Amino acid sequence: MNSIVIAIDGHSSTGKSTVAKKLAKALEYKYVDTGAMYRAVTLFALRNGWIHDGEVNTSQLISYLPEVNIDFEYNAENFSNDVFLNGENVEQAIRSMEVSENVSFVAKIDEVREKLVQLQKEFGHEKGIVMDGRDIGSVVFPDAELKIFMTATAQIRAQRRFDELKSKGENIKYAEVLQNVKHRDDIDSNRKNSPLIQSDDAIKIDNSELSQEEQFNMILKLAEDRIEKA
Ligand code: DC
Repeated sequence: MNSIVIAIDGHSSTGKSTVAKKLAKALEYKYVDTGAMYRAVTLFALRNGWIHDGEVNTSQLISYLPEVNIDFEYNAENFSNDVFLNGENVEQAIRSMEVSENVSFVAKIDEVREKLVQLQKEFGHEKGIVMDGRDIGSVVFPDAELKIFMTATAQIRAQRRFDELKSKGENIKYAEVLQNVKHRDDIDSNRKNSPLIQSDDAIKIDNSELSQEEQFNMILKLAEDRIEKA
């Protein structure tokens, strides 16, 4: 059977990773969460004290970029890939509110994007991959056989993120999460390098009113169809 590239882009907290992971498992494809890569670089910068009040010490970060090693390793416990930063499993650490609040500032740095896009292209070199992010269908794999663009209202996305953070024991207010979601939308959509846009050939799915299962079945069907045609 032919292997294809599946690009899943969209706004933050739309459940891209959940559906992408499930899809990769069903198709026996590789899965790459590119948001985790931007988060890992952000964690690296935070740990070095290079981000203060949304200001990134860009020159320091750029000069140390060659020393930032990002990889994924399969975790059989949750049937998923964990992200590693210089050999350390940072899958939990990159999901903190501190990283969420700062990742957009790091993700708009040209040199960071160049490095991560290059890596992403290498990961997808042999196809048979599901990759989720913001610019996968537009920049990383403009020729992807299937492109999905996921969205939902900011309120619904904030509620989902809030529930997730609460369940992990984070002491957080809904209003704060909503503000973070809106702020990230704004930065992601308006940055000059690879802004979040829907490619003309992407299929838009607004999942505000969809269950996870309905959405998954819809995307699986689209994928099977494209695989057959490939
Ligand atoms: O999907 P996420 O929330 O984990 O992504 C974290 C941040 O990384 C988000 O603010 C946008 C950025 N990002 C990006 O600019 N390009 C990607 N391909 C993936 C994520």
